[in-house]
Amino acid sequence: MADSTVYDLVITNGVCVTASDIAAYDIGIRGEKIALLAPSGSLATASTKRLIDAEGGYVMPGGVDCHVHLQEPSMFGKGSSADSFETGTRSAIAGGTTTLVAFAPQQRTEPSLLSALDVAHSLARDNCYCDYGFHLLVGNAGDQALSEISSLPSRGITSLKIYMTYEALQLRDHEILSVLAEARANKVLTMIHAENGDVLTWLTERLEKRGLVAPRYHAHSRPQLLEDEATNRAIALATLVAQTPILLVHISDTGATKRIREAQTRGQPVFAETCPQYLFLTREEHLDAPHGFEAAKHVCSPPPRDAAAQAVIWTGLRNGTFAVLSSDHCPFNFDDDVTGKKTCISEEFPVGRFRHIPNGLPGVETRLPLTFSATDRRDKLPLTKFVEVTSTNAAKLYGLYPKKGAMMPGMSDADLVVWYPNVGSPKRPAGLDDLTITNSMLHHDVDYTPYEGKRVTNWPRYTVLRGKVVWDRDGEGIVGGKGYGQFIEREASVLNDIWQRVEEDGPFDEDKL
Ligand code: URP
Ligand code: ZN
Ligand code: ZN
Repeated sequence: MADSTVYDLVITNGVCVTASDIAAYDIGIRGEKIALLAPSGSLATASTKRLIDAEGGYVMPGGVDCHVHLQEPSMFGKGSSADSFETGTRSAIAGGTTTLVAFAPQQRTEPSLLSALDVAHSLARDNCYCDYGFHLLVGNAGDQALSEISSLPSRGITSLKIYMTYEALQLRDHEILSVLAEARANKVLTMIHAENGDVLTWLTERLEKRGLVAPRYHAHSRPQLLEDEATNRAIALATLVAQTPILLVHISDTGATKRIREAQTRGQPVFAETCPQYLFLTREEHLDAPHGFEAAKHVCSPPPRDAAAQAVIWTGLRNGTFAVLSSDHCPFNFDDDVTGKKTCISEEFPVGRFRHIPNGLPGVETRLPLTFSATDRRDKLPLTKFVEVTSTNAAKLYGLYPKKGAMMPGMSDADLVVWYPNVGSPKRPAGLDDLTITNSMLHHDVDYTPYEGKRVTNWPRYTVLRGKVVWDRDGEGIVGGKGYGQFIEREASVLNDIWQRVEEDGPFDEDKL
């Protein structure tokens, strides 16, 4: 007998928030897709296999986090990744993220990008709780790697990342230019880590000579000026290569933000990302103040900055300078001298040696709750902006839209986050009023969170991925299956028609310089 059930899942009484609108709608889901948005309450009695009553809570497109490091070898200091694809994607869904883009790292010693991609696929396949894609991380811009960039789009890879720092990864300016030219010719977006690696090595050596090796000196070795200079250089190099679109990742600094804003104002396709660590951590509180080795918990690059820079980053997020807010989840255990932060401690350096601390912080699960908690403060982030920077723009920028990052009936995957009712609602559970982040409540495989003790106002109550509830906070927690997450082949970016403009401008031609 035919199944007469109309929907597989209905979410009723929610307030839907997209990057453009806030309105009370019911959502009808059939299979993996959003089938219908209907007036609030109208689907409460619809024929459905499962009904979720959102009780007035916000319902949004699932989070899209396009800067996540999982199961990577040692590249950013001595340690290696604490999270596998399994544990990192498990953590993602518990924090409302339904799609992430991780890295396929090509190391300096490897000539091929495609073999790095094969390795990433083999690690992720059948292990993920959320949908995923890869950026190629180009550690060796030799002839073979450059020639393989043209085969990336047909494999669903439309972005790559290059580094202006880290001994194991830093590219020289001529190598950056070669990557930019090849990426431009193939509609591949280039993400750039902009810090001046030569200057920070010089500063590191001077600090070491004076015995200033404790974790807090990490910030002294990477002052804001290094990010400003490298950002300026990255924009100049992209300008030279016929205005190749670039995305400057994890921006933390006032000067860099200004350079990006100026380039955007000139009409250049320069995009930027910031991260929660530059909104919620400061150098004073998290690197300078902690005693002993504790500061290593907050060692990432760029490092957390001062309160003045933090205010500039908030403004940049509000005014559109930053298109996306990603986690840059790059997890290392703290109390671990084999793969974690403590690998930099030795008999000679009992307080640790900052140059060898693995750089990076965990944050894939806390990204949405922390930032959502700032939406109730008018000076921080409007709700639609929150959805734009944590989901929709990432989907557009990285070629996932409108399958991801949207709620378009018939088009978008039913990837949703349902939040608890807001402060003041009679339906809001009492326990949420002092919701404090502790590492024990998180689902990553890391022994600390940099946000321990931080209060948040809400948490994803349900996460839905392609029509299936995968996170049920009041039920069994993680209810999705390992392996349900699929590799998503990405298209070229559609944010601000960037490739259309490149096509109109024609190929890069030295003759025109
Ligand atoms: O400290 C950081 N950001 N670690 C991750 C590696 C990177 O550069 O994104
Ligand atoms: Zn980086
Ligand atoms: Zn990163």
